Amino acid sequence: MAGTVVIRELAAAEAERRLGELGAILRDAVDSGASVNFLEGFTQSEAEEFWRGQISGLADGGRHLLVAEDGDRLIGTVVLTKAPQPNQPHRADVGKMLVLASHRRKGVGRRLLDAVEALAREEGRTLLMLDTTLGSSGDLLYRSCGWVQYGIVPGHALSTLGVPTATAFFYKEV
Ligand SMILES: CC(C)(COP(=O)(O)OP(=O)(O)OC[C@H]1O[C@@H](n2cnc3c(N)ncnc32)[C@H](O)[C@@H]1OP(=O)(O)O)[C@@H](O)C(=O)NCCC(=O)NCCS
Repeated sequence: MAGTVVIRELAAAEAERRLGELGAILRDAVDSGASVNFLEGFTQSEAEEFWRGQISGLADGGRHLLVAEDGDRLIGTVVLTKAPQPNQPHRADVGKMLVLASHRRKGVGRRLLDAVEALAREEGRTLLMLDTTLGSSGDLLYRSCGWVQYGIVPGHALSTLGVPTATAFFYKEV
């Protein structure tokens, strides 16, 4: 299946047109129990609002959105956000690494991660950072792709059900 999936960048104008699909991917992640900043009960309109807030960064180049597309349907996302600090021109954060629950464990997440690392290199961002719930699917993905865990903070974030959970922090030089 992963072979038929295309990974590509979504520019600001298309992201704006496809807010519904982007929102559905984020909502699906929260519904599946993933700790991606939001709690159970998160709505489609709140999910679209999140993505709407990303558009200006896509437009000004401070942020890049890569998507996984199966036919004409978006099934996954990952966001690269360049560090804005003048003394960190080589650094960026990776976030919203999401694959629809119905499409997981078929290699799409790994392809999105490979693609965002390649894009970061092209953009001169050679130090990448991210964090995720300890023991989550993301945690396992990042470990399997050579990311280095540099710390764990107990009780750092709430699960979608409101339970304090540990967050693992990772970096990778690309
Ligand atoms: C994390 C996520 C993007 C992975 O996407 P995916 O398409 O399923 O990942 P892949 O199929 O490319 O998996 C690559 C490797 O990661 C590891 N992995 C990913 N999910 C795993 C899981 N649930 N259990 C065990 N290992 C897992 C495995 O090593 C896997 O290789 P394998 O299938 O050959 O064993 C997806 O599970 C997801 O959207 N989760 C919810 C959102 C989330 O938590 N995102 C991370 C927040 S920072």
